Amino acid sequence: MKATGTANGKIILMGEHSVVYGEPAVAIPFPATSIETTIKKITGPVTLDCFFYHGPFSQAPERLLNVTTVIMKTLEKLQQPLENFSITIKSTIPAERGMGSSAAVAAATIRALFNYFKKELTTACLMELTDISEKIAHGNPSGLDTAMTSSQSPLFFIKGQPIIPFSLNVSAYLVVADTGVTGQTKEAVNSIALLSQRSPEKTTAAIHTLGKLTRQAKLAIEQNRPADLGVYMNEAHHLLDFLGVSNKELNQLVAAALATDALGAKLTGGGRGGCMIALADNKTSADRISAALLKAGAVNTWIHKMGED
Ligand code: PMV
Repeated sequence: MKATGTANGKIILMGEHSVVYGEPAVAIPFPATSIETTIKKITGPVTLDCFFYHGPFSQAPERLLNVTTVIMKTLEKLQQPLENFSITIKSTIPAERGMGSSAAVAAATIRALFNYFKKELTTACLMELTDISEKIAHGNPSGLDTAMTSSQSPLFFIKGQPIIPFSLNVSAYLVVADTGVTGQTKEAVNSIALLSQRSPEKTTAAIHTLGKLTRQAKLAIEQNRPADLGVYMNEAHHLLDFLGVSNKELNQLVAAALATDALGAKLTGGGRGGCMIALADNKTSADRISAALLKAGAVNTWIHKMGED
């Protein structure tokens, strides 16, 4: 007996961090990267096999607490014991790089367990369980990553409000580049919380402006104005840098993209490492930007045609 579950990576186009404070975010599913979890029947204690660990489930390290907890909670829901199966998690989403790998691991694993035990999984249940994992991984998640794991289309997301799917009606290419440096979402989210205690006015103003830029970016997408979208991305990157969630590697890649053909560039996700995105007018520019990013130190790049989500 065997069953699988999958989930995509995601890219935040605009609104990371400010989304935690009730401002909107725009995110897209990123099927170029994904997770597949496989559950297989074995006899005896459960085993876990993933990038960070291979061995008995009961001895999994602390850093996998989000994964082990969500597995226990899912089994509770399914009213099944923790025995007689193996769990294998395969991922092409670079971990801790702002592509939502923790939420995707949770979603793929929940789906696999529900499939294995032949129980129907509602979206509400998937989101409730994924959120448990995200709270452990990120501390104070906005819920955006959780929402993206069950979405096939781009989302306009405001914490606690109904999610609005929309189409990326913009003729442009997105180049995604991985700095190769582990991002620090939890630390970055906490650092903005600390900054807002030290300089409340400046921090609040930056967060509001990020929200305004996200709304303007959504309009630019809907009205197919890629050049304006690029300008909003640049402004968002400066504000995120001001808030302390960029770093040297991200700033170098943003500069390299802008020095090539990019209409705009910014970090994506939690920051302090992880990935950045650049907007290109056409495929030739996207290829040139990708080459420039690799030359500037990116360990990997992906090119995504917008409007094909
Ligand atoms: O780093 P990621 O992919 O988990 O994205 C985090 C996005 C934040 O806005 C920084 C945090 C959140 O909970 O929305």
